[in-house]
Amino acid sequence: MKWIKFGLLREEAKKIVNRVKEIDIFEFYGFHTHLGRFSKDPAGWDALYRQYAKDVIEISRACNVQPFQVDLGGGWPREREPECRSKERMMNANTIEDYAKVVCAGMLDEFNRVGFDIPQLWLEPGRYIAGNIGTLLTSVYVVKDDQEMDYTYTMVDASTYLATLVESQESKNPVLPANKMTQPVVAKTTEIAGPICIPSIWESGATMPELQPNDVLAIMDVGHYAESQASQFNSLPRPATVLVKDGESELIKRAETVADVFATQILPERFIKAKAEIEKSRTAVKKPVRKAAAKKPTTKKTVKKPATKKPAARKVSRRSADKI
Ligand SMILES: Cc1ncc(COP(=O)(O)O)c(C=O)c1O
Repeated sequence: MKWIKFGLLREEAKKIVNRVKEIDIFEFYGFHTHLGRFSKDPAGWDALYRQYAKDVIEISRACNVQPFQVDLGGGWPREREPECRSKERMMNANTIEDYAKVVCAGMLDEFNRVGFDIPQLWLEPGRYIAGNIGTLLTSVYVVKDDQEMDYTYTMVDASTYLATLVESQESKNPVLPANKMTQPVVAKTTEIAGPICIPSIWESGATMPELQPNDVLAIMDVGHYAESQASQFNSLPRPATVLVKDGESELIKRAETVADVFATQILPERFIKAKAEIEKSRTAVKKPVRKAAAKKPTTKKTVKKPATKKPAARKVSRRSADKI
């Protein structure tokens, strides 16, 4: 039931449309829906938007309005969808044109059946446009080969907090050996893991070529949600963003520095005062310590005496030393 926070029931929608008609500064424009990803099956999309068309007709007629626009929102399935939580089910045989054909035909059919004026059709594709265009590049910093457990850990410098859907929605973003794409893979699989104190597993049981420090791995399909959800967890600065087109690259967001990470933090005045107090008491304690230190040469002299005996010890023969 956690998704119930979205949307309206039909009767509520009717009340809102009637209220909009009453308020001078508002003009009724149309309807909007957004279901998010729910299925790759075109038949599911057909059923969903036929029902939506029927709801649009029912509400419009009940409220005596004609929508100029119906907006179908986003959630359109892509051809490669790591958020389906499975490497095997990631690829989608249907194209966006397949969904367009099914949805437009179904909605037109519902509108025409009852002689309803055809409104403009709008979409809000988010991840369909941006999902597959982002790639996160990360460097290997160590390969831990555990002979006993028969697996290796390939440690990379990017953690999954830079693409949080990997942790929160078990997104299975493909990981590619960017600088070794043509090299043969080795038999032993590896865990691709980021640093810091969360599991940060990019891929478990990855099939890779022989990897070593400074090799670059490409984590695919991080073009949506990743950059805006990335955090500075463990006070680590976030990487730069580079726009790439036709082999040309442009820096569009510089890498953060440690100073950036702390730039917005404010130390409350009382902590500054307490720090000053601590500093003051430390200097007060330091004085007698310095005096004692000044006496040290005397002690050193007494210590030096046994040191002069050392050469005598060196004369001990190996045999007698063994006995000792
Ligand atoms: C109202 C609305 N429209 C469009 C989108 C984009 O959805 P998607 O990225 O799944 O295409 C969202 C995302 O949640 C949304 O809430």
